[in-house]
Amino acid sequence: MPSPAEPSDPCFIRVRDLHKRIGQQHILRGVTLDIQRGSGVAIIGGSGTGKSVFLKLVMGLIPATSGSIEVDGTEITTLSERQLAPHRRKIGLLFQDGALFDSLDVEENVGFPLVVAGWKDRSKLRDKVRETLESVDLGEHLHKLPSDLSGGMRKRAALARAIITEPQCVLYDEPTSGLDPVVADSIDHLIRRTQRQHGITSIVVTHDMKSVPVIADQVVYLREGVVYFSGTPDELMSSRDPAIRQFVEGNSGETS
Ligand SMILES: Nc1ncnc2c1ncn2[C@@H]1O[C@H](COP(=O)(O)OP(=O)(O)O)[C@@H](O)[C@H]1O
Ligand SMILES: [Mg+2]
Repeated sequence: MPSPAEPSDPCFIRVRDLHKRIGQQHILRGVTLDIQRGSGVAIIGGSGTGKSVFLKLVMGLIPATSGSIEVDGTEITTLSERQLAPHRRKIGLLFQDGALFDSLDVEENVGFPLVVAGWKDRSKLRDKVRETLESVDLGEHLHKLPSDLSGGMRKRAALARAIITEPQCVLYDEPTSGLDPVVADSIDHLIRRTQRQHGITSIVVTHDMKSVPVIADQVVYLREGVVYFSGTPDELMSSRDPAIRQFVEGNSGETS
């Protein structure tokens, strides 16, 4: 996998005053954020605050209403669909449910992006798929169908599929939701290992505060459409801000 050679700009993603409206809803209301090349970033925030929308904007899957998103030195908000293709190739996306193809086995699922990218040499393809599956500890399960995998194994297969094209950045949307705590912790460590070993910029949307110190150098708390807090996990945990405390402690603010 490429580790960015002599990056001229330590900032991989630079977001300025980003707004997103969908219908009557003003979801993002001026998000400004820098994400360092090769770093692990956790994005936290209440349900419906626009975390998934933010990932889709960074990927160029939906248009911004206004503001700027610069990725690896390129402003992406003004690109045409055709110009977005090379941008999207830099970024792997791991959807919440993993979205594996039910009728393809693990090897075929993970090799799929390479087939789409035009890899023709079967033995090279097989070697690459096997190497990638080894790196997520799934080397033994090549010929299983998704329905025969545990939840944690499905996440590993989906992660292998997201990184096989050697993206510079991977976006994870709640990668540990629905997993038991032990499996969730192993996925968190795998995300961190992938980020460190390959120098992949990793942006992880999570609702799980336990994940934050494992996966993140930087935590971003989205609240009411803006970045309410950005700092290290330690800074987050030691913050005295009542809104942050309430979120971190999972306190609804209600009394019974
Ligand atoms: N395609 C869409 N059409 C209409 N509303 C949407 C769409 N996508 C997201 N939204 C709305 O935008 C808000 C933010 O959504 P989302 O980013 O999915 O939240 P979350 O922070 O939970 O990931 C929600 O109110 C959601 O209903
Ligand atoms: Mg979401």
